[in-house]
Amino acid sequence: MTILVTGGAGFIGGNFVLDWLAAHDETVVNLDKLTYAGNLQTLASLRDNPRHVFVQGDIGDRELVANLLVQYQPRAVLNFAAESHVDRSIHGPGDFIHTNVLGTFNLLESVRAYWTALPAEEQQAFRFLHVSTDEVYGTLSPADPPFAEDNRYEPNSPYSASKAASDHLVRAWHHTYGLPVLTTNCSNNYGPYHFPEKLIPLVILNALAGKPLPIYGDGQQVRDWLYVKDHCSAIRRVLEAGQLGETYNVGGWNEKANLDVVRSICALLDELRPRADGQPYASQITYVQDRPGHDRRYAIDARKLQRELGWKPAETFDSGIRKTVQWYLDNQAWVAGVTSGSYRDWLSQQYGA
Ligand code: NAD
Ligand code: TYD
Repeated sequence: MTILVTGGAGFIGGNFVLDWLAAHDETVVNLDKLTYAGNLQTLASLRDNPRHVFVQGDIGDRELVANLLVQYQPRAVLNFAAESHVDRSIHGPGDFIHTNVLGTFNLLESVRAYWTALPAEEQQAFRFLHVSTDEVYGTLSPADPPFAEDNRYEPNSPYSASKAASDHLVRAWHHTYGLPVLTTNCSNNYGPYHFPEKLIPLVILNALAGKPLPIYGDGQQVRDWLYVKDHCSAIRRVLEAGQLGETYNVGGWNEKANLDVVRSICALLDELRPRADGQPYASQITYVQDRPGHDRRYAIDARKLQRELGWKPAETFDSGIRKTVQWYLDNQAWVAGVTSGSYRDWLSQQYGA
């Protein structure tokens, strides 16, 4: 048996592929365009693994995807591929429309053609799992209950609007064509192989490099953090037992203000890799201009996934963030590989000198 994963050289897709192949003997075909966010170093341990087939390409390339589907006959397609960084979507939304909206549309059409031609039994067993975000629900006030699956979609950034559009397409392909889809909407992830444009890895690397730790606005924006391997276990569970056409919210019940997240990282680094001058890393915290349209609070109600499919996260924020900081300390070669010229160009565009 085979599964087709898209975006499997990125942060979450890469962790998913590594965890899958460690636990299953099912082949993974990994289709990834290798944008700035895709990194084959993440998959280096799979180089000689015959159960991992890497293909560089775009989810929107109908001919390529049709050929892959016919050649490998996957029993499921898991769509992780996306443009994923809110700040980049503010600077240039075009790529987000290209991949997240048009790419998902073209992928759905390729998969529909393949699925329609399958024998009845295989058609019934087939799944298209779409990996999405809690950001489609918009922003919460401090007293609001966390996002449940029936929350209204109110996306506020070009990124979240493009993901919302992709979720709607997936839903429509189920209702109109009967495509057997599942959608997951997850909160902010963190963990190994996270590209250092996002808050947690950026802060770890800037701290170690003696650079400012940029806090947007007052740092009181709240995110609900989930260790990436818990997200991967939720996706495996939904793939295995999710009800067709249903959406599942995935979260860690770990709401934290950004400033508290950054202070936790600083405290761990003070313990694990103290600064040579004995000063605390928190002295590098610097307040910078806020992100336009910055969502104030995200929080996920993950009770449906727990109640219906028995999923629970294994990590607390304290255990997950300790593992993450230690991983970045132990994996400087991976870090050196991704912090190349284009990464430095992004830092100077976003944060100036
Ligand atoms: P990422 O940016 O780290 O990785 C995205 C991957 O997709 C990269 O390997 C990139 O090369 C690939 N890709 C981009 N465009 C492509 C295209 N047109 N065709 C094929 N491959 C393409 O993203 P991530 O953080 O791993 O997120 C994965 C998915 O999970 C996304 O759909 C994202 O919206 C969703 N998500 C992310 C988070 C989070 O906190 N990172 C939380 C919830 C949901
Ligand atoms: P990010 O990791 O970009 O994820 P998202 O915007 O998808 O939630 O940002 C997490 C939070 O951290 C978000 O509220 C923005 C904030 N942030 C900063 O304060 N400084 C930074 O340099 C970055 C990248 C993010």
